[in-house]
Amino acid sequence: MKALILSGGTGSRLRPLTYTGAKQLIPVANKPILFYAIEAIRDAGIKEIGIIVNPETGPDVERALGDGAEWGLTFVYIMQDAPRGLAHAVKISQDFIGNESFLMYLGDNLVRDGVTEFVGKFRSSKANSLILLSRVPDPQRFGVAELDGDRILRLVEKPKVPQSDLALVGVYLFDSSIFHAVNQIKPSWRNELEITDAIQYLIEHDYQVDSHIIDGWWKDTGKPEDVLEANRMMLEYVEGSIHGTVDESSSISGRVVVEESAQISRSVIRGPVIIASGAKIQNAYIGPFTSVSREVTIENSEVENSIILEGTQIVDISTRIDSSLIGKNVRLNRGKQKPKALNFVLGDNSSVEIL
Ligand code: G1P
Repeated sequence: MKALILSGGTGSRLRPLTYTGAKQLIPVANKPILFYAIEAIRDAGIKEIGIIVNPETGPDVERALGDGAEWGLTFVYIMQDAPRGLAHAVKISQDFIGNESFLMYLGDNLVRDGVTEFVGKFRSSKANSLILLSRVPDPQRFGVAELDGDRILRLVEKPKVPQSDLALVGVYLFDSSIFHAVNQIKPSWRNELEITDAIQYLIEHDYQVDSHIIDGWWKDTGKPEDVLEANRMMLEYVEGSIHGTVDESSSISGRVVVEESAQISRSVIRGPVIIASGAKIQNAYIGPFTSVSREVTIENSEVENSIILEGTQIVDISTRIDSSLIGKNVRLNRGKQKPKALNFVLGDNSSVEIL
């Protein structure tokens, strides 16, 4: 069995972060989202992974992942020239997959409990496909399944009036019959070849498509609030460990990771929190569910429930920063000259909320 990880897409709802990097490389609990997918696939015993990239994400993703040797895996990069849909990604992967069955994993999805159970279930069945479903409050954002008992009646991509609350999770198992299906379907209203339509084709043509409703936590990290929720979920699993330096006037409570060469002084840290190497936290409060990347400085400021990326400096900000996703090398500080005003240099599609 092989695997395909999809790591293309424009990441439009995560701009401006996605102007300078692939959305799948945004870290949660200081680890790129994509790494969780790779680990889940490795843990399920799959060794060869095809990684679909596009011209924008390709160079970054290749640099971050390499050839797979680090994980004991083999990665093959497959270029999708434009966002032509998930079924199109399957189409261009046929040479890589050959006649094997495969797991397809959307690189911006996070499945807390991994995929080992589903891979086992599919391997021991005669099904042509196994899809995973999860109950969601906003099914119109997803592919939606209508079931009759265990039987799938219909799958519809982003229906305006959803007939159930069962969303298609971005993890699918297929045998090679899917290559026939992706060649039969037509592009959707968004001009993409939808994997949902290809699976619907299998259902209509009497192939066996099984479904499994997952009850563990799952997230499609398409929007900033999803990324923050994923960060909260993954920080729940972090075990505290202090390798950096913490001075005597600092207090640390809960599960807190302070990596080597991070420095904490005169600060209060309440876990779960992860602080990466080279970070400097001075006279600051870092509250629960915060991930601080490498070489970040936080001084005379308070931050909680946030993700702060590499090289950013937050200095002398008197109001607490909460529920924020802040990119690399951002500088937030207090101006030294009058007038007392907010002064911004923000990239396109940035968003700032001030109370
Ligand atoms: C894709 C699929 C959709 C699925 C979702 C899961 O949506 O088309 O059926 O529910 O992933 O993350 P997209 O992220 O392309 O909008």
